[in-house]
Amino acid sequence: MTTKITAPAFVRHQALIDWVADIAALTKPADIQWCDGSEEENQRLLELMIANGTMVKLNEQKHPNSYLAFSDPSDVARVEDRTFICSEHEIDAGATNNWVEPKQMRAKLNELFDGCMAGRTMYVVPFSMGPLGSHIAQIGIEITDSPYVVVSMRKMARMGKAVYDVLGTDGAFVPCVHSVGMPLSAGQQDVAWPCNDDKYIVHFPETREIWSYGSGYGGNALLGKKCLALRIASAMGREQGWLAEHMLILGVTNPEGKKHYIAAAFPSACGKTNFAMLIPPAGYEGWKVETVGDDIAWIKPSADGKLYAINPEAGFFGVAPGTNTKTNSNCMSTLGSDVIYTNVAVTDDGEVWWEGKTKETPANLTNWKRQPHTGEERAAHANARFTVSAAQCPSIDPEWENPEGVPISAFIFGGRRADTVPLVSEAFDWVDGVYKAATMGSETTAAAVGQQGVVRRDPFAMLPFAGYNMADYFNHWLQMGEQINQKAAASGNQPPKMFKVNWFRRDENGDFVWPGFGQNMRVLQWIIERCENKADAVQTPIGLVPTYEDINWDQSDFSKAQFDLVTNQDKQQWLDELQSHAELFDKLGERMPEALKQHNQKLINDVQAS
Ligand code: OXD
Ligand code: MN
Repeated sequence: MTTKITAPAFVRHQALIDWVADIAALTKPADIQWCDGSEEENQRLLELMIANGTMVKLNEQKHPNSYLAFSDPSDVARVEDRTFICSEHEIDAGATNNWVEPKQMRAKLNELFDGCMAGRTMYVVPFSMGPLGSHIAQIGIEITDSPYVVVSMRKMARMGKAVYDVLGTDGAFVPCVHSVGMPLSAGQQDVAWPCNDDKYIVHFPETREIWSYGSGYGGNALLGKKCLALRIASAMGREQGWLAEHMLILGVTNPEGKKHYIAAAFPSACGKTNFAMLIPPAGYEGWKVETVGDDIAWIKPSADGKLYAINPEAGFFGVAPGTNTKTNSNCMSTLGSDVIYTNVAVTDDGEVWWEGKTKETPANLTNWKRQPHTGEERAAHANARFTVSAAQCPSIDPEWENPEGVPISAFIFGGRRADTVPLVSEAFDWVDGVYKAATMGSETTAAAVGQQGVVRRDPFAMLPFAGYNMADYFNHWLQMGEQINQKAAASGNQPPKMFKVNWFRRDENGDFVWPGFGQNMRVLQWIIERCENKADAVQTPIGLVPTYEDINWDQSDFSKAQFDLVTNQDKQQWLDELQSHAELFDKLGERMPEALKQHNQKLINDVQAS
């Protein structure tokens, strides 16, 4: 039953007001605040969190207008085993997603959310993924009892009152409900980072609803990001003929002024932010790399067979450890002011630090668990994060807010592999490219709870983010390819080419061989020159690859022997690899596209014959 609540005059959407009233009746907050996104509101919430002990304000000279939040030590990453896709039929969630029958899940959610906001303020947060008012954007309303979520959403999405103007009296929105799952009884003292051991990150892809319970961590709680812009949007894209992908988008301009945009998928914490903000190395004078996005791309086909991509986000929620002026100077400049850090370490004069920021560990450091840093444990958590507006990035692309998106020349798929997968290979065609992406493997990282460093198959880097059956997702990519190829052929355009990369090959001592970071520009140049039919490649059973001579080594001392180490293809390793692709395809079940299974068999035959 709908309870009567009073919305501010800027909210004119009765169905939305009724929904907020229903959620308030269920969750029973002490108070409701309709967020307007103003600076005054932001400051008030930051001050509240400082008073509560959630955050500290950093040194104003070193980090103007910046804050550090410390999470509960148990609430530091995405919880994939507690993430659910509740489609009507189990087969539609597929073999890689956790599924619970929707009625049963709704009953569970009703139980969990009943009274879960007692003693807390409920915030109503309007946001747009994609430029406000753009035909490509999607609007969401997040109800949350976490002020940390409100101030973070303000950086990560277009958040505020103007969203209600776009929604008008009856516009469509994705309802998102979030609670930290820790009600307060009268007089009970709050904790600095409330959360619950029992966590549920739930998606209903058919009705496009999101419910998140028990965690305050960004990937579980900022519901515009992974939940809406990937899981729900991927299901929308399948229905409507577009793609929602875990991809960065960058622009590369050569010295003649010719520009290409590239979209690249890498699993979490594999360097997407660094690649998106790459600074070309010495020897690349006149080249420029610009950033459109570092994590998510929404990609739509045009009538002439091109694909246009937008970054639906407005900020970066990046991994801090390892970031420094050498690995990512653009990122360090982006972090010059107005940042919310989470779980990094801090000096006693309010300067943040994390492993890899500087060679020297500063004295008098408080670690992410708020204890004096003794050197026995990490100072910053391995998945410590920064949250910052994309507009602050010095390499931000002039087109990053273009609602039409930017045209994509190539897709790159990359994983973290110590062996087997060469530095770079080009797909023979669209089906081979989809195969390469579908069979991506990567060593697991701290971005998700669980064992780290084990190779798992992470198709398209979407394993934790596809909102529907992975086999259907492959089919969707294959069908999009057919359409694009036909349209491109009719209009004389070249469809995007596809490449697989691996920056992470190791030598017999376990050390990385490829220097990575800015040096990835050399691979990028080869890729765009392949798109322009200017660079050479040789054919191998698993793709088209450059020889040492095909790469520009101007001002580099990377030797031919080192190049061989990062590019060699071991026959037995590849037969094992292809066998594990076949096992993945079997696991993905009856909807697995035949074309990819046949391609696996063809590759096995080709490698065997090589
Ligand atoms: C992220 C992730 O935060 O992939 O982007 O975990
Ligand atoms: Mn990500």
